Amino acid sequence: MRLPGKAALVTGGGRGIGRAIALAFAAEGADVAVAARSVAQLEAVAAECRALGRHAVPVPLDVTDAAAWRRAVDAVLAELGRIDILVNNAGGGIFRWIVDMAPEEFDQVVALNLRSVFLGMHTVAPHLIERGSGRIVNVSSMAAYGGGPEYCAYSAAKAGVNLLTEVMARELKAAGRPGVTCNAICPGPVASELRSSHFPDEDPASIMQPSEVAKVAVFLSSDEASGISGAALNVRHY
Ligand SMILES: NC(=O)c1ccc[n+]([C@@H]2O[C@H](COP(=O)([O-])OP(=O)(O)OC[C@H]3O[C@@H](n4cnc5c(N)ncnc54)[C@H](OP(=O)(O)O)[C@@H]3O)[C@@H](O)[C@H]2O)c1
Repeated sequence: MRLPGKAALVTGGGRGIGRAIALAFAAEGADVAVAARSVAQLEAVAAECRALGRHAVPVPLDVTDAAAWRRAVDAVLAELGRIDILVNNAGGGIFRWIVDMAPEEFDQVVALNLRSVFLGMHTVAPHLIERGSGRIVNVSSMAAYGGGPEYCAYSAAKAGVNLLTEVMARELKAAGRPGVTCNAICPGPVASELRSSHFPDEDPASIMQPSEVAKVAVFLSSDEASGISGAALNVRHY
């Protein structure tokens, strides 16, 4: 096992990529807190993690809400005793041309994909810094590198996630905490509800599966990746 005895908080853990990361972490020996808004999905994933022999808790959280982050992290610390790994995975999009995108919709997408990552690191990083060890993994996207039509808010937000990742990594080093690392994963198309809602005619079997992304999250969270911080790993299958 590559994460024995670790405790992880995975946002967006109720389905898709986050669920796959939670299950992979549990299979590698980690206790897991799964956070999102749909409590029934969280409870189902927590039950799957428990079936793998781990402690697992569902944590209701809207990642755009700063006060909710504080409550969620306090709940995880009370339940699991500590947090070793934070995975900022929750995300999603509203895809429209710039001329059709309402300003409120743009703000909503940036809050969900970018501000949420700031809030997660702002709330959890002090705990990791105090302990001198830990991992932060931010789920970005290949969309961070290119701005196609309809991707104005999503691409801009994910590009921001990559930059926030670098800033966090450099601040951790400047704070004398090389044992805490921060990296991003930039997946290409992955079979999930988010993908199928935007591309309903695509065969999910023809693109990457969430479990492939989860393997990279396990690697970045493991001791093997202790020397990597500030990286954005592109994960795709052409
Ligand atoms: N699928 C792809 O092709 C792809 C490619 C590149 C990057 N990504 C990124 O991968 C991440 C996971 O996406 P996915 O494809 O697995 O999507 P998904 O299947 O739609 O899952 C998204 C998860 O995020 C949660 N979430 C959404 N809004 C939230 C909020 N305000 N607060 C808390 N949780 C929230 C959802 O739960 P609730 O709705 O219940 O809250 C759900 O658990 C996202 O950051 C996405 O941008 C996906």
